[in-house]
Amino acid sequence: MSLATHYLGLSLKNPLIASAAPANAQLDHLRRLEDAGAAAVVLPSLFQEQIEADTELEELILGRMAHNSPEASSYLPVAIGPYGVGSEAYLDLIRRAHQALSIPVIASLNGATEAGWTEYARLMEQAGADAIELNIYFVPTDLALTGQQVEDRYAGIVASARRGVAVPLSVKLSPFVSALGNLAQRLHDNGANGLVLFNRLIQPDYDLASMRLTQGVHLSTPAEMPLPLLWTSLLAGRTKLSLAGSTGVHSGDDIVKYLLAGADAVMTASAILRYGPSYMTRMLDELRIWLEVRAFHSVADMRGLLSWARSRHRERYGRPSYIKMLETGPVA
Ligand SMILES: Cc1cc2nc3c(=O)[nH]c(=O)nc-3n(C[C@H](O)[C@H](O)[C@H](O)COP(=O)(O)O)c2cc1C
Repeated sequence: MSLATHYLGLSLKNPLIASAAPANAQLDHLRRLEDAGAAAVVLPSLFQEQIEADTELEELILGRMAHNSPEASSYLPVAIGPYGVGSEAYLDLIRRAHQALSIPVIASLNGATEAGWTEYARLMEQAGADAIELNIYFVPTDLALTGQQVEDRYAGIVASARRGVAVPLSVKLSPFVSALGNLAQRLHDNGANGLVLFNRLIQPDYDLASMRLTQGVHLSTPAEMPLPLLWTSLLAGRTKLSLAGSTGVHSGDDIVKYLLAGADAVMTASAILRYGPSYMTRMLDELRIWLEVRAFHSVADMRGLLSWARSRHRERYGRPSYIKMLETGPVA
């Protein structure tokens, strides 16, 4: 039985990757993930804002030093992110993780505009990152922005991160773009090697007692899987990009669903946060059992079997099926 797969050109022993989360900044946690069977780990994000704050601070200190001010040395970087102080600490985390683990270490660079922060991709590569995940988290609140402009922004960020790095680049995308298939092709043409489907947008709620906005990161549930599953299925086999199914993976069955849709790899964060790293072993055992029971000898044998490209019932993705479903009424 082979669980082996390829993601972003990396050979993985199985399809399950520990998605970006704060605990992945701790070496002992990363080791526990590896021991539990993780095929690769994604480090928590280094944010554009953090890089820009560091750069501003550096310029300030250098400016003061130029004026020979003794207080210059008293300025210290502000800690943003779980891995310590400053973006240099992030590069150090990559170095330490790379040395400590034998599985691929994927660094995460998180931002929204095409600017100097993407140059950090090069420093991440130099620090030993096996690949870089670009998390482009952008909510187009400006009503004047067109869909084309938003997609140009994504494409520009990828092109600028690609300049000067040889390691694979993946893009963690929002599902809320107007033409995802076309955007995927553009991202590939601009140097991306894969997509993570999807980023979860922070969606606010209202507290009716205080009449205030409430915000917070909630752990996912498998109920969030259908949207990324749909797009994994629609893109699989039709793009040269590797695909990582992400969001809602809490069991071996959830891994199976993304693989059947055509994902090359599957990511999980909430399940690890909820149950701990050893839960990965259980999910992988469940995957193995599912394959054994159906006499599949490898993940490769079943990957993409339910993708759109291999479907004999593509009409099920279209309007006739939609109308029929509405007429039939809700599923019990
Ligand atoms: C507490 C928490 C922190 C996270 N931090 C990051 C991060 O730094 N960078 C990132 O790209 N995603 C981050 N994520 C998103 C996860 O990597 C993942 O994409 C998302 O939770 C959906 O996967 P899941 O359903 O397996 O949780 C975070 C998620 C949680 C719950």
